[in-house]
Amino acid sequence: MSLWHLFNLNDGKTVFKWTHYLPIYERHFERFVNRPLSILEIGCLHGGSLQMWKRYFGPLVNIVAIDIDPNAKAHEEDQISVRIGDQSDEKFLFNVVEEFGQFDIIVDDGSHLPEHQIKSFKVLYPNIKDSGVYVVEDLHTNYWPEYSGGLKKDTTFIELSKNLIDELNAYHTRGVVDVTEFTNSTFSMSFYDSMIFFEKGRLPRRHDLIIGKDAAGNRLWQEKQSVPYKNTK
Ligand SMILES: C[S@@+](CC[C@H](N)C(=O)[O-])C[C@H]1O[C@@H](n2cnc3c(N)ncnc32)[C@H](O)[C@@H]1O
Repeated sequence: MSLWHLFNLNDGKTVFKWTHYLPIYERHFERFVNRPLSILEIGCLHGGSLQMWKRYFGPLVNIVAIDIDPNAKAHEEDQISVRIGDQSDEKFLFNVVEEFGQFDIIVDDGSHLPEHQIKSFKVLYPNIKDSGVYVVEDLHTNYWPEYSGGLKKDTTFIELSKNLIDELNAYHTRGVVDVTEFTNSTFSMSFYDSMIFFEKGRLPRRHDLIIGKDAAGNRLWQEKQSVPYKNTK
């Protein structure tokens, strides 16, 4: 069943999502369905999204949620663990990673404050497994003053992400932008209305090839450019 159907037909605990998120989630998450995986969601509220992930991903998913509200502990059930703490508390986040290990998927649906989104991302993004996905949702708050946001305000997660586009492309900037662990470990960034997805993936080298038959019918295998991997660890 699609995530949209699971959401729309939900008669369990309430789940809060903008409707356009569902097909977008499905686009990035479908490959994880019915596989062993671990997911961390920041922000439980009524626990509905945790149950939705459980129904969507199936019997092999291990869901961990964190929330600042101690009442969220009540949302623990089979396949769902909840830890109480602040998403801007680095030590708390490190403890969660130490307890549960690295995650395949992290969804930040917590305070929606840019400062918190950035702090969580800095600690948790390196703790996403290779080819895992990190998503921050409700990024419209980054434009709102009541969330310390504002258009092109350099302390927002949106602005951080715009700069990360350059870091993703650092190999091609002729030394202007340093190649970082983010460059090396990130395969893609996808921007949507109010959401950003980061997909992990490590390219052994950037390789620009010409392959095929030339006008005389000879098969070509020609290397136009090759950018070797720079170790950043
Ligand atoms: C938008 S709700 C989560 C909705 C839920 N994921 C869903 O889809 O139904 C936000 C949650 O984040 C929690 N929260 C707010 N500030 C937080 C913080 N600094 N650290 C962790 N959780 C926080 C709130 O208690 C609330 O439960």
